[in-house]
Amino acid sequence: MSERILVAVAWPYANGSVHIGAVAGAYLPPDIFARYHRMKGNDVLMVSGSDAHGTPVTLAAEERGVSPEAFYSEYQAEMLDGWRRLGISYDLFTTTHTQNHTEVSQDIFLRLREQGYIYTDTTEQPFCENDGRFLADRYVEGTCPHCSYNRARGDQCDNCGRTLDPQDLIDMVCKICGTTPVVRETEHFFLKLSAFEEPLLKWVRAQTHWKPNVRNFTLAYLEGGLHDRAITRDIEWGVPVPVEGYEDKRIYVWFEAVIGYLSASKEWAQAKGTPERWEDFWRKECRAYYFMGKDNITFHTVIWPAMLMGYGGLNLPYDVPANEYLNLEGLKFSTSRNWAIWLPDYLDRYDPDPLRYALTSNMPETSDSEFSWREYVRSNNDELVATYGNLVHRVLTMSARNFNGMVPDAGELDDSSRDLLAQARQRFQETAQSIEVCRFRMALQAAMSLAQATNRYLDQKAPWRQIRSDKSAAATTLWVSLSVINCLKTQLYPFLPFSSEELHRMLGFEGSVKDAGWDWAEDALKSGQLLGEPKPLFTKLDEALIEAELQRIGQEASA
Ligand code: MF3
Ligand code: ZN
Repeated sequence: MSERILVAVAWPYANGSVHIGAVAGAYLPPDIFARYHRMKGNDVLMVSGSDAHGTPVTLAAEERGVSPEAFYSEYQAEMLDGWRRLGISYDLFTTTHTQNHTEVSQDIFLRLREQGYIYTDTTEQPFCENDGRFLADRYVEGTCPHCSYNRARGDQCDNCGRTLDPQDLIDMVCKICGTTPVVRETEHFFLKLSAFEEPLLKWVRAQTHWKPNVRNFTLAYLEGGLHDRAITRDIEWGVPVPVEGYEDKRIYVWFEAVIGYLSASKEWAQAKGTPERWEDFWRKECRAYYFMGKDNITFHTVIWPAMLMGYGGLNLPYDVPANEYLNLEGLKFSTSRNWAIWLPDYLDRYDPDPLRYALTSNMPETSDSEFSWREYVRSNNDELVATYGNLVHRVLTMSARNFNGMVPDAGELDDSSRDLLAQARQRFQETAQSIEVCRFRMALQAAMSLAQATNRYLDQKAPWRQIRSDKSAAATTLWVSLSVINCLKTQLYPFLPFSSEELHRMLGFEGSVKDAGWDWAEDALKSGQLLGEPKPLFTKLDEALIEAELQRIGQEASA
């Protein structure tokens, strides 16, 4: 029975390149998940886009002296190219800077206002007399009132992860000129979050299938008490407030960005020529999974669900499998210090699958984890090349050489052959089960242990000797190995889509692996099937690259 699955992926700010830490935390997990479910024949919609508005984008654009419009479109294009090259398979990756998104956001705003969940109030905001402007969100910095981190931004503290309002900061300074702002009154719209405290608590308590850290973090946040938050800003870039008299204000970027999941679903349905199709994912039976890094949790477990509850008739998140952080060579990723590996740079130099592999095997699923170039080279050479790639290459070349490039006859299976096939069946199931509960590291491990078991089987059987002593025994060994490799091809496809496609052709199939479905039968490869030309799936990397790459990290970006 086919299920509907909405794969909602956090929207990266269009204020710079994507780094591989964010790929490991937020963008790769949903791709693995979506690829698996599509292959299983489920009805999957995977959407996201660039988060184009708000002070993260205006600040970065001002620093470079270009318009926010020019700025966000540059990164929108770069991201699209990055997703294509890394194989992140969005059904739609749009941006919040579209007419459709404006309309959908304004509709939600107005409906919540009608229901009494949005009201106006006068509030005090930091104002820089030197720059002659209000300082929204990231235009102020100061000390976090919760954890005392002294470089907290006006929207969020990067140290403790709490969301903030500018006026919460202690000793705040203007980000543009460094002077201390004054406080001025201004009128803003507020979202009545307090009205949702009880319903949210009740709902979150019932989500026992959530990761403990996501659920506990959210419960602690809710138990601390929810207060209403301003959802408009005195800035010029963003979605206009659809109320007369407020023409010079914009909707707060977080309020409208989360609406992107819905507006993107509508845009996708429209573009497909089935404008009502979005309703399948939002109004009918459907499980919505929201993927992100841990700094985004409360927006997706508190604010967006509150908005959905207030709006009515739309599905709440089913799961929010947020990840912890990936660190780089022992330190946190830092854009300002260029302590990062930028996705476009990586893709200019190396293949996509080895990165997908390294990031999955070290995915920060339950605690922070670590990327190092040494470990990247090791996992490529020892696991992808030595364990998986060589297995495929040995079996395919032996079959090509000794059996006219065809799948040999199965013959009589002995116990160890039957045992390996049984293991394949079991590992295949394990991978599926782990992906379904978003445990991608474990899912990948199950596949790799099958590859290891196949190598052991081959070493025991030694078909290169059997060929001379007992050709039909060699045929059986190769048939069994080919059958398991055919299993690995499917099992590894969500993680390593590029090499799985190549392997699919080398095994003599046409079309795409993904159309073959999430399924494995031990006799799916027929004896006599003509195999494709065997080529190595992965390339061994020279350890010298480690030093060269380490030199690059933390250096001034070259123009
Ligand atoms: N732009 C935010 C970030 O990079 C994430 C927004 S997710 C959204 O942290 F969907 F809610 F927009
Ligand atoms: Zn803090």
